[in-house]
Amino acid sequence: MERRRRATDRADLLALMAAKEMVLVCGSGGVGKTTVAAAMAVSAVTEIGGRVLVLTVDPARRLADALGVGQIGNEATLVPASAFLEAGVEPRGELWAAMLDTKAGWDDLIRLHAPDAKVREAVLSNSTYQNVASRFVQSHDYLAMERLHELHSSGKYDLIIVDTPPSRNALDILDAPRHMKEFFRSWLLRWLTVPYRSRLFTMASKPFYQIADRILGSRFLQDIAEFFMLFQAMERGFVRHANEVERLLADPRTTFVVVSTLEAAPSYEATYLARELVRRDYHLGAIIANRVLPLSMTAKASATSARKMVKAADGELADRIAEQLGVSSQIVGDVLTEIGTRFHDVAVVATREAERRSELAELCHLLVAAPMLDRDVNNVADLLELAAHFTS
Ligand SMILES: Nc1ncnc2c1ncn2[C@@H]1O[C@H](COP(=O)(O)OP(=O)(O)OP(=O)(O)O)[C@@H](O)[C@H]1O
Ligand SMILES: [Mg+2]
Repeated sequence: MERRRRATDRADLLALMAAKEMVLVCGSGGVGKTTVAAAMAVSAVTEIGGRVLVLTVDPARRLADALGVGQIGNEATLVPASAFLEAGVEPRGELWAAMLDTKAGWDDLIRLHAPDAKVREAVLSNSTYQNVASRFVQSHDYLAMERLHELHSSGKYDLIIVDTPPSRNALDILDAPRHMKEFFRSWLLRWLTVPYRSRLFTMASKPFYQIADRILGSRFLQDIAEFFMLFQAMERGFVRHANEVERLLADPRTTFVVVSTLEAAPSYEATYLARELVRRDYHLGAIIANRVLPLSMTAKASATSARKMVKAADGELADRIAEQLGVSSQIVGDVLTEIGTRFHDVAVVATREAERRSELAELCHLLVAAPMLDRDVNNVADLLELAAHFTS
């Protein structure tokens, strides 16, 4: 069974992408979600075809550079075929990229949910809204889901791969629609939207408002109260959409791919996330272990050759290598000794990684490993190389 999987993992991942319409790539911070999502998208375009969209949250714009598109914005941008041709492959389909822009995303949502033009304009021009919208870091999660919903309903794409935002907790993305609904139900919003005049003139709150008024100016308080009142006017639209987004996560056309490195903390979080996805009856399509050391590092034969290399470092072996490379024999000897001696440390890490890899493999029928490339992943060729190395 293990042997069969080894040969077909890459194909299995492609089959998963061919079978589904939405792939949510999630995992803890910094494990390679953006990179893996892009690598999957690039390989879908070159090997499956169709219109593929990768929706990313990549404030560093590293992905935009890698895909050769100067500006990815809230609107999807077509990645030029030349980016693929330069990497030596012919795309079978089209790759589109869009980036989650929090402020523009919120503006779109307000336009969508505002019951009328008056509310819409009042919210968009409200100074509290303008200040708050671009700083809602947590709202990234919800916006990503909203965008997915919108892009999927547009029917323009055969496959949408969503790179989920860096969040404190990988589960945040799953809980985002529920959090949005809870926000509308919360006492805080109710309290904030009690007509501010009545709050303003109750005896209890008077001293606070008098001082706040003096320090912040009455316009400020008025703006805040107005903002929350207007926001509440959009409750129905937001709640309806949050329900639809929740349904989309459970839709049979949606799958989740959990990315993790094989270090302790990310593996632990990936385990938790994978179990939670299954518990919620969401489709767990694959777990991708990223930046892994080769399994061969754990083999006894590797340790033996490292030991032998150290022994032979100041002898004929070093001379032969030095001659072939045209460098000093002394230096080659030092390098071999250093590498051979440190091999043990690498092997210990690789062994721990292998254990975690089998633990993760228990959680999902498809566990794919992506090696640690010797450089940052910077262009389509690198993404293709990474995807080509997806193995078990
Ligand atoms: N397999 C790999 N080999 C080499 N470098 C990699 C690999 N995977 C990712 N990287 C590099 O690791 C860094 C982090 O990757 P990436 O931005 O994809 O992580 P992320 O999970 O999206 O992070 P965040 O949670 O901050 O969004 C990047 O510099 C990327 O080029
Ligand atoms: Mg990222």
